Amino acid sequence: MRGKFITFEGIEGCGKSTQARLLSEYFKNEKKKVLLTREPGGPPISEKIRSILLDNENSEMVARTEVLLYSASRSQHTAEWIIPTLERGLHVICDRYYDSTRAYQGAARKIDRKIIDIITTFASFEQKPDITFLIDLPVKIGLSRIMKHTADRLERESTEFHQKVRDAFLEIAYREKQRFCIIDGAQSKEKIHDDILENLLKRIEI
Ligand code: TMP
Repeated sequence: MRGKFITFEGIEGCGKSTQARLLSEYFKNEKKKVLLTREPGGPPISEKIRSILLDNENSEMVARTEVLLYSASRSQHTAEWIIPTLERGLHVICDRYYDSTRAYQGAARKIDRKIIDIITTFASFEQKPDITFLIDLPVKIGLSRIMKHTADRLERESTEFHQKVRDAFLEIAYREKQRFCIIDGAQSKEKIHDDILENLLKRIEI
């Protein structure tokens, strides 16, 4: 049986990477095979693209370059890791996927939604997550968790930028209620994990 494709989304500092890791540990304890991965990133080619994307020296990068690089990273990741893993019957937990492109490059960088849809469909080989957890958190709290001196190119964007990202995630989640599960990111890490597990087990067969 094909594995399940589970994604995590949210603004900077929302705690989604911690939650993705906790969920993968849960799977491992349950003796279920799982691949924990992230975007941008995954296989070596995609990780190289990640470092270009997040490098603070690349401040001249224009929005079109940005969306194409995120998509280039995604197509390699999807073809090399995600699809083969799902086909082998393993579950894939991915820290961010194409909803981040819709929120960051679409809503915040204002790239036309139709263009974003075409590029993301192409780059994802039409793979769709089975379930997506949006860890929702007010921007102020998220940004306060980021260390200013180590902040990357995207994390250094304005509060207004991150507010647009948060609003866009919520809008996408309301539009796609079937796939999305919105989790209150202001709770303790343990409570967030419990909420995620409860919803996961209720919604999909693992
Ligand atoms: P991370 O900090 O969650 O590892 O993600 C890296 C950054 O890349 C984060 O600021 C969100 C951003 N991003 C996009 O702008 N578009 C995308 O498609 C993805 C996957 C991430």
